[in-house]
Amino acid sequence: MLYLPVTETPDQLSRWLKLGAAALLFQVLFPAPVVAMGPPASLDEELTQALDLEPDLENGKALFEMCASCHGPDAQGSRDGVYPQLAGQHRSVIIKQISDFRLGNRANPDMLPFTETDVFGGSQGISDVASYLASLPMTPEPGVGPEDTFARGEKVYEDNCSVCHDDGAEGFDDFFFPKIQGQHYGYTLRELKKMKEGERKNVYHGMLRRIQKLSMEDLEAVANYVSRLPPTGGEDELSE
Ligand code: HEC
Ligand code: HEC
Repeated sequence: MLYLPVTETPDQLSRWLKLGAAALLFQVLFPAPVVAMGPPASLDEELTQALDLEPDLENGKALFEMCASCHGPDAQGSRDGVYPQLAGQHRSVIIKQISDFRLGNRANPDMLPFTETDVFGGSQGISDVASYLASLPMTPEPGVGPEDTFARGEKVYEDNCSVCHDDGAEGFDDFFFPKIQGQHYGYTLRELKKMKEGERKNVYHGMLRRIQKLSMEDLEAVANYVSRLPPTGGEDELSE
């Protein structure tokens, strides 16, 4: 808490990162749920192990077949946002979300059965699927929001979100901060509403504090803004 004002702007955040202050930052950003430098305390042993295992992408691809009926053959989700795009998401984020469904921090009856240990055959399988998903190109045509709220969304994003999700909304794999660029508008907006209303419980308090102050119009605008940001981390960048 003491150091938080120092890291409130993206510039300062990246300077801290460059200075190698990652360890300190990690503690500052995750005071409660994370013990010092380790992964989030909510991760069970199996998931913590998965973080460190050498992935087998071929096995990840084979395991993903059971996810494809909902998340799509290329893991790009559905444009209406019912199913999120998983392609290009950070490996750490995918692993943490599996944990959050298991623990009931996120409630979704469709998704829950696919987070059970048996489904993956243990931590190696989880590591494999997470890395496979992270390696996939994102869709060039995500579902987006209304064009006229883009400028408002950009301002909301810069004032409230870029400090943690980065300028291009790419997030940070090392900190379990999700990539939210090019994600389907409908999904992002739904999750923001769920977080604001306390229905999705795995939210870092620094984010919650900000979205609680924002109006529904601001949330719609910012969800639109990030949906229109081109993928920067994958192989398949958005063309003009
Ligand atoms: C029956 C449909 C269905 C299947 C099959 C399914 N999912 Fe999901 N998944 C969902 C839905 C719906 C959501 C969004 C839940 C929400 O809104 O909270 C989701 C969300 C997720 C998320 C969170 C994404 C994020 O950005 O936070 C991950 C990770 C995920 N699924 C991975 C998988 C994996 C891996 C498999 C296969 C082992 C799988 N899913 C199979 C329906 C499904
Ligand atoms: C203090 C850091 C911080 C700030 C500020 C912040 N976030 Fe987040 N955000 C996070 C973290 C950490 C998560 C992952 C939570 C979890 O583990 O589920 C997250 C998750 C999300 C998700 C869910 C992604 C998914 O795939 O399910 C969305 C959407 C999101 N943030 C959007 C925003 C927006 C929009 C803003 C600005 C209004 C914002 N965040 C501000 C840290 C932050």
